[in-house]
Amino acid sequence: MPSTLRPVRSFVRRQGRMTPAQERAFTTLMDCYAVPAQPETVDLPELFGRVAPTLLEIGFGTGEALVEFARTHPDWNALGIEVHQPGVGRLLNAVDKEGLAHVRVHAEDAVPFLSNRLRPSQLDRIHVFFPDPWPKKRHHKRRLIQPDFIALLSRHLKPGGVLHLATDWEEYAYQMAEVLGNRPELNSASQEAFIPRPPERPLTRFEQRGQRLGHGVWDLCCTRASDENAADVPRSAEG
Ligand SMILES: C[S@@+](CC[C@H](N)C(=O)[O-])C[C@H]1O[C@@H](n2cnc3c(N)ncnc32)[C@H](O)[C@@H]1O
Repeated sequence: MPSTLRPVRSFVRRQGRMTPAQERAFTTLMDCYAVPAQPETVDLPELFGRVAPTLLEIGFGTGEALVEFARTHPDWNALGIEVHQPGVGRLLNAVDKEGLAHVRVHAEDAVPFLSNRLRPSQLDRIHVFFPDPWPKKRHHKRRLIQPDFIALLSRHLKPGGVLHLATDWEEYAYQMAEVLGNRPELNSASQEAFIPRPPERPLTRFEQRGQRLGHGVWDLCCTRASDENAADVPRSAEG
């Protein structure tokens, strides 16, 4: 059944100019790396041509973190979702140049994809690095990290699967911590709400921009418990 979850979009489809190389990548490489429109329900082993642990990165921007993960984890499948086409073109070029045959891309909104096309409990890791902070109060409803969205991500993690978020916007960081803290099945990786930046998380383009502006960085990481081991704390939102 099609989902009506979050009709407010977390992005604005900026056209942005594609470089000729990005445009060429978009038109010639999507056939090799894109998640096909059919079948409607995506079978991950079929999509990747093998059974392997799977990472999903949402909003990969220009793809630095996804490429680095795929480069250093040849035994994993890596699925990236991003709506910004120049970023997708750039990622495709890097993936193709480096022969990273275990990467797949979906160039559409992550929310309907996760709501309607992927079966639950299939992902071993989910990364959401520097989602748009939407700093103005009237835009906070556009933020990706909300109770319903985290419930959706949680549903897609296998027991033991890891969710890693990062932001350079302090007030959003505390919102993320609160939303994660209200999910009894998501156990924080540390006693604190935030973890030191893991050395394996590469500096993303957006993060570099934040650094130039003097922003801090907050990383949050949690593990999906099996349902029977979920902590007994009240939920703020139902998934
Ligand atoms: C601030 S940028 C950060 C990009 C990258 N992670 C980085 O750190 O450089 C956030 C990205 O998320 C993408 N995005 C936002 N909402 C999305 C959604 N619902 N589905 C897919 N991508 C989304 C935007 O297009 C944008 O490229």
